[in-house]
Parts: sequence; C-alpha cells; structure tokens
Amino acid sequence: MSSPKWWQTAVFYQIYPRSFADGNGDGIGDFAGMTRKLDYLQDLGIDAIWLSPHFPSPFLDCGYDISDYTAVAPEYGTLEDFKTFLEDAHSRHIKVVLDLVLNHSSDQHDWFKASRSSRDNPKREWYVWREGRNGGPPNNWASIFGGSAWTYDEQTGQYYYHAFLKEQPDLNWRNPEVKAAMWDAVRFWLDMGVDGFRLDALATIYEHPDLPDQTSGYAAEEILDANAFHKDEYLKLLEFQVRQPGLHELMQELRSLVDEYSGDRVLIGEDEDVAFYGTGNNELHLLFNFPLVNVPKLTVQHIRANQAQRLTALPPEAWPCNTLGHHDISRLWTHFGDGSNDAALAKLHLALLLTLKGTPFIFNGDEIGMTDLELSKLSEVKDSAVLNQYYLLTEKLSITPAKALETVLATTRDRCRSPLQWENSANGGFCPADVSPWLPVNKNYATGVNVATQQEDPDSHLNFCKRLLSLRKTNEALRTGDYQALHNDSKTYLAFLRHDKQAGQSCLVMLNFSDETQRLSLDLGANSPNILMSSTNRKEESLSFETLELAPFEILIAQLYPLR
Ligand code: GLC
Repeated sequence: MSSPKWWQTAVFYQIYPRSFADGNGDGIGDFAGMTRKLDYLQDLGIDAIWLSPHFPSPFLDCGYDISDYTAVAPEYGTLEDFKTFLEDAHSRHIKVVLDLVLNHSSDQHDWFKASRSSRDNPKREWYVWREGRNGGPPNNWASIFGGSAWTYDEQTGQYYYHAFLKEQPDLNWRNPEVKAAMWDAVRFWLDMGVDGFRLDALATIYEHPDLPDQTSGYAAEEILDANAFHKDEYLKLLEFQVRQPGLHELMQELRSLVDEYSGDRVLIGEDEDVAFYGTGNNELHLLFNFPLVNVPKLTVQHIRANQAQRLTALPPEAWPCNTLGHHDISRLWTHFGDGSNDAALAKLHLALLLTLKGTPFIFNGDEIGMTDLELSKLSEVKDSAVLNQYYLLTEKLSITPAKALETVLATTRDRCRSPLQWENSANGGFCPADVSPWLPVNKNYATGVNVATQQEDPDSHLNFCKRLLSLRKTNEALRTGDYQALHNDSKTYLAFLRHDKQAGQSCLVMLNFSDETQRLSLDLGANSPNILMSSTNRKEESLSFETLELAPFEILIAQLYPLR
C-alpha cells in the first residue's frame, strides 16, 4: 500500500471522559486525570484517542446533549486543561479526535432557549418547529429513544422535533445560519490542533421537509433498544427521518473544510453505510463496520460473510474500520463471553479486532477485560434513554414495574460506562475512598480487573493486549495488508492471510472460536511459517502446515516466507 495515512495504520482508543480518570477527586473523570494517564496510553501502544463529548452539557444523554460547542464541561476542567491534554498527547505522538454532534443540541443551549422563546425569535428556524395535527403531534414519527419524536411547547403552541430525547432538539440543517455556526465550531477545534472528528448520529441530520407519516406503521413505543441507532433494521423503519437527501453534499462540504487544514485531519462517521465514503476520498474517511459487532455472538461464518460483504462494498480507495466495543453497547468481555471461557474469548475477539483489515477502535477498559456493570435499582441508572423506555413500558405498555426494571437493567448503556479500574483499592483507584463515583465502580477491580495488578502479571489481559498492539505496530502486513479468507467451509476456526506486497510481508492469522482442538492442514505452497504470536505459548519456532493443531480458542499468528 503506497504511503498510508496515519488514520489507516493507527489504533484508536475511545475515552469516555466521565469515567476514564478523575484528577481532582470529585468522582467524575476530567482532563487533569486524562493528561496524567497519557503515559499509560503511550505504553499501551495506541496511536489515537477518540474523546466522547467533553463539552458543557446537562448530561441527560451523557454529554451528547451539548449546551456549548466551543467550551469544556466545567466538571472536566477548563479550555486550558484541554489544550494541555492535547499538547501532551501530541508530544507522545498520540492524535486526538473529538466527538462532533451535529444533529441536535441540548435544550439548554442558548440557541434553543432563544428559539423556543417566541415564534418570531431570529433563532426560531434554527430548530424544527411545526403545528400539531388533530390535537396531536404533526405526524407519527418516532424518537430513536422511544416515544413520539415531537414535543409540544406550551409557550409558543407548536411542536419541536427530536430524533433522540426531548432534551435533544434537532437542529434545522436546512437553515444556512445553523451550518455557519456549526462550521465555526468545527474550525475552533481544528485551529486548536485537534486531529479530526467522530461524527455522531449523522443519519438523522436531515428529515423529510414534508413530514410524511412513516408507512412502516411502526409504533413509537416499540423502539426499546438504546442501541437502535446502530441497527440498520430500525433505521429502515424510520424512512423519512434518516439518510435524507442533502446528507452527502453536507459531508462533502465538511470534508472540504477539514481538507483545508494540514496534517490529514480525519472524519469518522457513526454510521455503517458505505455510501458515506463517497467516492472513497470526498466524504468521510472511516465508517464503522457495525454489522460485524451488532450480533449476539460472533461466529466464524458471520465474520467471514461480513468481511466478504464489507470489503467488496467499499468504494475504491476507501479504508475499513472495525470496532467490537463502544459506549453504547455491552462490554466486549461480557458481550462475547459464554460464562465459562470468558478470558479466552475476550482475547480471541481482541485478536480478531487487531488483525482484521481496517482501523481498529478499542473502548477504554476493554484492554483490562472490564465487564458490564450490574445495577440493581432504578435510582442508580443514569442513562436517560432507558429511563425514557422505563416510563414507556410502565405507563404506555402497562408492563409491571418489576419487569420493566429488568428490561432496563439488562439494556442500559450504563453497563459499559462504569469508571475505569486503575488499582486494587477502594473505588478501583478511580476516585478517593470517601467519594461516590458518578456511576458505581465494578467490584471486580478487587479480583484482578484493574490496571496496576495486570501490569505486574505477564499473562494478564492487559499484557496480552499490549503484545498484540506491538505486533501490529511492527508488522506492515497486519496494518495495511490485503485480506484473504482461507478454509471458507470451517465452522469452528477462522483462517485468513494478510498480504502486504509492497512491504514484502505476509501474515497468517488463525483463530479457533471453538472449545475443541481443531486438526487441519493448509496448502500454502513453499511457505515456511514463523510464529509471531500464539496464545498457547507454543514452543516450536515454525509450524507444519500438513498437520496443524489449534488448541481450544487458540490465537495463532505467523509470518510467511517467501511470499506466495
Ligand atoms: C450516538 C451516540 C449515543 C447518543 C446518540 C445521540 O448514537 O453514540 O451515545 O446517545 O448518538 O446523540
């Protein structure tokens, strides 16, 4: 591959600021904490950080409800603290990408306060206001977090539209003033030196201007999945609310803006639709491969079919991007575990993420095998999306409170958002013992799931993750090579090659997804393989392809000579 861009070879690490590191001991993560942990991240071997929103916010959607696009949440610090963090990251060769929430602001943003103050306020048209119909909302559109997408405003007697919570009114992107204000915010951060943006909820930016009823007959109350937004099957049902005309032109405009800046700033879309790559170099640089992760369990058939489909669907010059964990879904360890082989499965899935073709995104805490937080009371839940769902279940669908609570606790996004476990001490070392962290710390910090303990143990999840990251860093085939599936019929193990013809490297990856030994033979011509990594600590230096045995859940990565 000729001179890849930094974002093609980088491994991204997503920081959830509220839960990452608490520098001032108030139970909430902040920039002082993040800055102090940059040495840890450098040592881990990641190349770039995606920072979930760090802007002032009432935090009803955990920061995705922004009340000022060009400032820092006071709980996280000041703009100076942000700049220090950015400089310190850059001095360690770590890039920093911010979250850009274009679709909506908080209802506490001055723009919305002005907009709702009267029908003739100059900011009225910055949001989507409509008259009601027959004493109800303007149409049958659904909020992605459940319920109607319209909220009535007593003061001005009209409804405003919100694709998400009612506290997240949609901005009216057909108004050029909105675009100008938002592009100013984008420039504000680019001028400061950030390396790009992850674009939140881009599919919902425009809605159909004529507001036709959805024909799917989908009842708003039926969307009871806080992760619905990442699932194509839901988005298809919201036909007039998502992926409307104008989006590609908008992405092209944003791309041109970003391209004015030196340093290859990157745009990463929270969407799976490869159409947002444009021609491959005129819209977004990266789009998440959500279909890979949005399944209850990964099977080798699913992974193979996903790769075949995804890699063929990409436009020329577009580069893939994979994630197996982020702030809206269950943690990797819990999601892909089976209750008996969790550690081995978590390693296997991390190895998959870091050996597939494409830029990998790791969610903070997955490197130490953090697991889902189990909450037991409604009062502990912070995720407003599921609190909204609890209300719908009990009030509109007459589900018993106990059953509704069960649903909410099983799906809340709080599960993966608990504070990072740094040490085996009270509150996992996240904050002082006498302080209550904003979400409880998972108690398993005391049984080895913490950074300090794992740093000391060569066989820990953390050190395994570090070895994988360092292997990827030094192996051009794993970073940039083509992907070629082998043994397509296997239902138990995955085998694929990564070739980098230019670098003259070829790598074989074998991942045994079953709990049984697999015996196989590979016909790879004259190659003499050299083991780069084996999760079973194989003693031999090279492999025999005629009689290859993969231990249960084994990860085997080998270098091939000469190239095929
Ligand atoms: C995205 C974010 C999610 C948020 C939603 C609304 O899906 O990942 O956390 O709730 O957008 O902003």
